[in-house]
Amino acid sequence: MCGIIGLVSKDEFSVRDELLKCLARLEYRGYDSWGYAAYDGAVVKRVGGIGNNTKGITDMKTTVAISHTRWATHGEVTQSNAHPHSNSKKTIFAVHNGIIINNRQIKERLMKKGYKFVSETDSEIIPHYFDYMLSKGKSMKEAICSFISEIEGTFAIVLFRKGDPHLYAIKRDSPLVLGLYDGKGILASDIYAFSDKTNKAVFFDDDEFAVLGMDSYRFYNKSGKLVRKKVCGFEWSREEEKLKHYKHYMIKEIKEQPSASKRLIDSFSTIQKDRLIRFAKLIRMASRVVFVGAGTSYHASLIGVSLLNKLGIESHTIIASEFESFMLVDDKTLVIAISQSGETMDVVTVIKDVLKKGATVASIVNVPYSTIQRYSKLSIEICAGQEVCVASTKTFTNQLITLFAIAAYLGVKEFDLATIPDKIEKTIKTNEGKVRKLARELYRKKDIFVLGKGVSYPMAREIALKLKEIPYIHAEGMMAGELKHGTIALVEKGTPVISLIPNENVDMLSSTREVEARGARSIIISNTDGELHIPKSGDAEFAIYSGIIGHLLSYYIARLKNLPIDKPRNLAKSVTVR
Ligand code: M6R
Repeated sequence: MCGIIGLVSKDEFSVRDELLKCLARLEYRGYDSWGYAAYDGAVVKRVGGIGNNTKGITDMKTTVAISHTRWATHGEVTQSNAHPHSNSKKTIFAVHNGIIINNRQIKERLMKKGYKFVSETDSEIIPHYFDYMLSKGKSMKEAICSFISEIEGTFAIVLFRKGDPHLYAIKRDSPLVLGLYDGKGILASDIYAFSDKTNKAVFFDDDEFAVLGMDSYRFYNKSGKLVRKKVCGFEWSREEEKLKHYKHYMIKEIKEQPSASKRLIDSFSTIQKDRLIRFAKLIRMASRVVFVGAGTSYHASLIGVSLLNKLGIESHTIIASEFESFMLVDDKTLVIAISQSGETMDVVTVIKDVLKKGATVASIVNVPYSTIQRYSKLSIEICAGQEVCVASTKTFTNQLITLFAIAAYLGVKEFDLATIPDKIEKTIKTNEGKVRKLARELYRKKDIFVLGKGVSYPMAREIALKLKEIPYIHAEGMMAGELKHGTIALVEKGTPVISLIPNENVDMLSSTREVEARGARSIIISNTDGELHIPKSGDAEFAIYSGIIGHLLSYYIARLKNLPIDKPRNLAKSVTVR
């Protein structure tokens, strides 16, 4: 949530062509408003996404600048709540991702000293706080150390002072990374901001700060002691980033799945072979396995549980935000975090907590060097490449394939991974036309029910999530067996009910008959027969192909409704607040 960029260089750079282009790459982290501030104190703020909204902005050249794309937490979506925020004298400028919990107390204190606030955000305290500390004769480094010790909450902050050729960056919990290229230092919320320019990065740890000059950088710990940092070279499988003939990233990413899945499957016999073996060993050694994830990644984890349980390995999963209340762990537990971004705050919070309890943490992530990966003893990368659309599609498929590979290694015999990319291709080819037709029939519907059982239950939830997220249709993905315990009361003539029926599952067939008997518009996704037909597969593999159909359906309904498919309202791809 929120993307921040800070750029410092010994040669002047263009705000529009360099700073804002990097910022636009972080837009999927939030698109309520954006803004920038440059060395001489020039500030621009706009409501909405960057998109075409840079029109009318005269380009300027500078050597120091910061920018921000916002996902609102404190305060409505307005120009005054947009970042950067500054002190009243307009000499200190800051961008922030995170939440400052004790902002009210700090604000009241600063107001008593005469500081005036113009926004409703928690972030505005930052420039005023530094203004106050500097006015008391503290150096920037001392002021940062006080800030770290006094502020409660999460933050990735980049700030500068007018006329001071340095950028100051501070981090706790919210992600922050420094990219190095062509004599420039770029601070960003994630590596994608600069992955087209460099693969050299330095990752911040919590409560660290950095001072970046025109051709130097130094990292410090919370006491102001110099910290030696490693420059990491990251690998990031790059897809063609331009939309080309596609209208949206969502459909582009759905169609990238044959190649993205093949890349992952190949990695299991090459660069990730050793990780896969060690991952399987960790599972074997644990007394129980607990998965954790949020949203789509949680749905993947449900499939992980069902695969491990088949092998007799006790495993459970829980949505990250409820982990604390509903799951117990000890030092013999293996916690497997699944996360595309590797930054989801609900998941990061769980990891920190279970590590304190002595559990072992392993993860399945897409983004290398992400926070979750860095906290893990072992991590498998799903090699899906950048996913720009907020909705997870190709990354979900690759999460499932990773779970299949682990399960296969542990002894589940039901898949032949090598055939999956072709079957994905076939699923898309055979069904895209039919799905478009179905979308025309469904796009005015208010409610859709999706039924599944066993491994198709998580898919029912996943398809329902996508129907809510992209075409904004209320949808309920549920265990088919639960239908008769209440929800069936909502089924009337014409109510759309999608049934996921792998291999003629008898329970699914009877739930489908029950809704049909009440006049539902029954839509069957099946690998034996049905309105939407997918290749022959075992039950677990069925999850992949049925998911793709569900994702296509959400996409085509949203297109008919003319919705902002890649950036649905109120959402962000990387959810870095609790
Ligand atoms: O990056 P993560 O996989 O941890 O993200 C978790 C969820 O926020 C994410 O899956 C979300 O549900 C997607 N927008 C669904 O399409």
